[in-house]
Amino acid sequence: MEIQYTKSKDQADEKESITSDRKLAHLQICLEHDVQAQTVTTGLDDISFIHRATTQLSLNEIDISTEIFGKKLNIPLVISGMTGGHDFAYKLNHFLSKAANKLGIGMGVGSQRAALEDKDLRETFKIVREQAPDSLIIGNIGAGQIALGLSGDEFNEIADMISATAVAIHFNPLQEAIQPEGDTDLKELIAKTTRIIKSSKVPVIAKEVGSGFSLKDIKSIKEMGFSAIDIQGVGGTSWAGVESIRANTPLLKKAGEIFWDWGIPTAISTILSTKNFEGVIIGSGGVRNGLDVAKLIALGADAAGMAIPFLFATQSHSTDAVIALIKEIEYQIRLTCFLTGCQSINELKHAPLVITGKTAEILHYYGINPKEYLQREKK
Ligand SMILES: Cc1cc2nc3c(=O)[nH]c(=O)nc-3n(C[C@H](O)[C@H](O)[C@H](O)COP(=O)(O)O)c2cc1C
Repeated sequence: MEIQYTKSKDQADEKESITSDRKLAHLQICLEHDVQAQTVTTGLDDISFIHRATTQLSLNEIDISTEIFGKKLNIPLVISGMTGGHDFAYKLNHFLSKAANKLGIGMGVGSQRAALEDKDLRETFKIVREQAPDSLIIGNIGAGQIALGLSGDEFNEIADMISATAVAIHFNPLQEAIQPEGDTDLKELIAKTTRIIKSSKVPVIAKEVGSGFSLKDIKSIKEMGFSAIDIQGVGGTSWAGVESIRANTPLLKKAGEIFWDWGIPTAISTILSTKNFEGVIIGSGGVRNGLDVAKLIALGADAAGMAIPFLFATQSHSTDAVIALIKEIEYQIRLTCFLTGCQSINELKHAPLVITGKTAEILHYYGINPKEYLQREKK
């Protein structure tokens, strides 16, 4: 699908059009270039389930539903936040939310910064709640905006705009540092975020965009009072990569290339979170099929998130391809449960796993013995 972009209003206010144009450039780059991790993986390739040949389950009776923030998900899947803020995003959000509502999955929107700056753009986000009145819907704003002084009232406006179930604050220092106009003064971010969370009307999610969270981050996330972590580890879409393609100076372009694969692999960051954080965990970053989703759940996540595959699914210009993608993932999760003897998502959370390779090696460095995931088999 060609991106047909008509600016929502005159270029009178330069700030709002810069935000909106940047979001459109991101979409274009993601659709036209290969922006996936190049030399690292999510680590999910190091993780295998134990096949159960004598399974006695009925494939169709396996229950893969779950609940997050009081919202039922028929499939433990969330469309990670991507768009909003321009005409083209309105269409994408329409297709995605209609499909999410139909099949009972969650959905995040892209950064709502542009809509705070320009009220005319709010419709491009509101469409999501209109199409999915009862679904898990997640609002979105950057940590950079909080560092710049976003108020508690503005944060609650973000939630109210789409009657959000929760709002994600995305931490993306790498992406900002490769952007010519990036927010890189993050002084006092922790104190400011803590204040925002205290005055928030809805649960707040700490989200990365493709570099994951470290053990120290997870501890700060806990201290700041976040209700959930959306991992978004390395191994999928590279935002250093996207910004490097968009960069307007050799300095930024080169930095984006060098840091293309920077971050903590999704599998490692998910394991560290499940062991050190008691809130909701969404495993994400490079999730590409239902087997990946099932692996993250077996590592302790409550659901998984996926971004770029859904962007590609909207390119058919309808909800049908989005629905087909969700159904594929659903079947693959169900099949994993069937072949591991798990009747439900709760049982899948305790399914034995073999963890090998680089992921096992890194876990050892953290003092985590990968054998503990296999020893569940004896229970
Ligand atoms: C076109 C596009 C736009 C995105 N915009 C946002 C955004 O506004 N806010 C945000 O938190 N993440 C944004 N993301 C990042 C995704 O939510 C996700 O963290 C990242 O792409 C890694 O997931 P993936 O490997 O499944 O693509 C965007 C991703 C894509 C593909």
